[in-house]
Amino acid sequence: MAEFKQLPPGAPVSAQVTNWFQNRIPTAFDAYKVHMSEYYAPKNFNFWYFFGSLAMLVLVIQIVTGIFLVMHYKPDAALAFASVEYIMRDVPWGWLVRYMHSTGASAFFVVVYLHMFRGMIYGSYKKPRELVWIFGCAIFLCLMAEAFMGYLLPWGQMSYWGAQVIINLFAAIPFVGEDLSLLIRGDYVVGDATLNRFFSFHVIAVPLVLLGLVVAHLLALHDVGSNNPDGIEIKAKKDPKTGIPLDGIPFHPYYSVHDIMGVSVFLMIFSAVIFFAPEGGGYFLEYNNFIPADPLKTPAHIAPVWYFTPYYSMLRAVTDDMVTVFVVLIAVAGVLAFLKGGFKGLWKWAPLVFALVACLLLKAFDAKFWGVVVMGLAVMIMFPLPWLDRSPVRSIRYRPNWNKWLYGAFVINFFVLGYLGIKPPSDIGTLVSQAGTLFYFGFFLLMPWWSRIGEFKRVPDRVTFQPH
Ligand code: HEM
Repeated sequence: MAEFKQLPPGAPVSAQVTNWFQNRIPTAFDAYKVHMSEYYAPKNFNFWYFFGSLAMLVLVIQIVTGIFLVMHYKPDAALAFASVEYIMRDVPWGWLVRYMHSTGASAFFVVVYLHMFRGMIYGSYKKPRELVWIFGCAIFLCLMAEAFMGYLLPWGQMSYWGAQVIINLFAAIPFVGEDLSLLIRGDYVVGDATLNRFFSFHVIAVPLVLLGLVVAHLLALHDVGSNNPDGIEIKAKKDPKTGIPLDGIPFHPYYSVHDIMGVSVFLMIFSAVIFFAPEGGGYFLEYNNFIPADPLKTPAHIAPVWYFTPYYSMLRAVTDDMVTVFVVLIAVAGVLAFLKGGFKGLWKWAPLVFALVACLLLKAFDAKFWGVVVMGLAVMIMFPLPWLDRSPVRSIRYRPNWNKWLYGAFVINFFVLGYLGIKPPSDIGTLVSQAGTLFYFGFFLLMPWWSRIGEFKRVPDRVTFQPH
């Protein structure tokens, strides 16, 4: 056991209380130092660095409001819809708690999408932060599952039919699909069993995993240290006497106070939305969801909530014609890889054999199944980003200028896909979403090639920072 530290007689009471605790739980005090007062973060953080702490804030809002919702919500197909209306009309402040939670879900995705985009433009996923990124991607997957299951709980028309459509997608998986969708639903149609298991996952299982992943995300980040808008490793230049990075400042008080500004602005916008447009014009809470679930009446148009629609668009983009386009692309890639060579002996045939097998598989299964695969891959493709990006520099600031246009086009494309996913299908919409899907995957799959080309700018030795 470590020695107890004694304070001189007459020390202030506050110091004595602190000392009492410090002697009994020194690990907590060490953790405070490692993660707050002696965590040296680059001094050039900009507004993009608000979104990590904002994501934590929204996570707390969701958990706290969720706890209060569960006090009045009834996870029963016969009672769920009415219990939500009861919360909205009769429970004191229930309307506020419910709107904070439902609008909070959209806010979570806004904040997390911006947080992820920051990681992309500053190359924060590159060595040594690969694991920070991978934990982040796992968080994103959990968040999608959490939001999807939460949306079923109010048991409105969109809850019901949205879940029906998405769970039915799993049935398209060859051999195991039917059984898998039955397992998810717990019944032959979405029903009470589905509601109960989604409730259980939504309120306890997924939040626990989410919290664990957020802790892992931050531990991994604090072990390697934060990146910054210049993408410069601040640990490379340390004060020889103290060993503190020359461009580093303690997280507390500098960034704890800085983050309060981000939190204030966020809360202003968040409150404005909650008080004046809690349904977000039908985008945060769809109007059809104010009608109780009716298994006998399918709504004319079923669309997921906005944060899923880019992926939903990609799912709908995969028609038979699109599968043929995939076949052609894979065949061309196989022939090019074969002609380029590089493989020895019998292996030289590998690209052709691989392409042939892939094309046969593509044609063997239904386009609907490949749509599900494309939708899943659209999220999974984020995981290997640290290895797809071969650029010699991290930050977009020192990459060739055209990279900014490319990232701009990526964002616009994501918005267009999102917009099309909300709209009912149309010929032109399908065509545009097919082009958008190809662009989306092209961006990632061709990254090993395009991220290396062009004229890179000289990266300065120290971070760029203007005192303000
Ligand atoms: C609940 C969701 C999340 C929370 C609470 C969270 C929290 C944080 C916090 C507090 C930071 C440090 C402050 C900052 O750099 O902004 C951070 C950094 C980071 N996060 Fe997240 N994060 C979440 C989701 C994600 C996701 C989905 C990704 C990517 C797929 C991601 C990737 C990163 C990366 C790469 C960094 C390091 C950034 C840098 O040093 O430049 N995070 N995260």
